[in-house]
Amino acid sequence: MPATPLVQLENLTRDFVLGQETVRVLKGIDLKVYHGDFIAIMGSSGSGKSTLLHILGCLDRPTAGTYILDGQTVEGLSDRRLSRIRNSYIGFVFQEFNLLPEATVYENVMLPFVYANLDRITCRSRVVHAIENVGLGNRLKHRPAALSGGERQRVAIARALAISPRLILADEPTGNLDSANSRDILTLFEQLHAKGATIVLVTHDDEVARSADMTVCMHDGRLDISS
Ligand SMILES: Nc1ncnc2c1ncn2[C@@H]1O[C@H](COP(=O)(O)OP(=O)(O)OP(=O)(O)O)[C@@H](O)[C@H]1O
Ligand SMILES: [Mg+2]
Repeated sequence: MPATPLVQLENLTRDFVLGQETVRVLKGIDLKVYHGDFIAIMGSSGSGKSTLLHILGCLDRPTAGTYILDGQTVEGLSDRRLSRIRNSYIGFVFQEFNLLPEATVYENVMLPFVYANLDRITCRSRVVHAIENVGLGNRLKHRPAALSGGERQRVAIARALAISPRLILADEPTGNLDSANSRDILTLFEQLHAKGATIVLVTHDDEVARSADMTVCMHDGRLDISS
């Protein structure tokens, strides 16, 4: 029996209305992501990569078309149900890290657990474990300003992973990092992939894309599956 995809998009579109004008940014996307896949999305600036990733991450909804996530059709779900899915299924890593500046490393990684139905001791051990996994076990009480860019991105990855998401989405996670830090972050994604994680990552960097099993290219709102 063929495997069921974790993510299935069919003829997905996203329009933005600007004044009198409607701009079609996603123009009919078809994509299947299976458990354990590592897919890189490349493509020029403005081609619609982040728009697509936000929809995959249930941070935004498509205008038309179908999005099936782990067997559930996303379109019909209420906002409440959608945010519950987002918080329990999806780990999102952004280019700008998006950490809370006043919160410590530990508190930042604890954030997604606000929605989890877990006791304090379990939460604490999952948070500490996630931080240790990205090599920052000795930085629990630091605030983001006291960390390097690479360390901040590792905190963001720990936060995305602490809830054990079924899908990891990363939008240019190395875009603000120098090459040594980019390599470290890439190694983290490669290790996650080796452990069976499902990853969709947007990048402009050929080296980052080479770590993936498959690269898809976005051109003006359409996806070309190139390798
Ligand atoms: N909220 C919005 N309202 C109107 N237009 C938008 C909105 N979000 C994105 N767009 C438009 O959609 C297009 C695609 O944007 P998107 O951010 O997805 O591109 P991208 O491929 O991620 O580019 P980059 O590589 O620069 O990050 C752009 O032309 C942008 O102006
Ligand atoms: Mg983008």
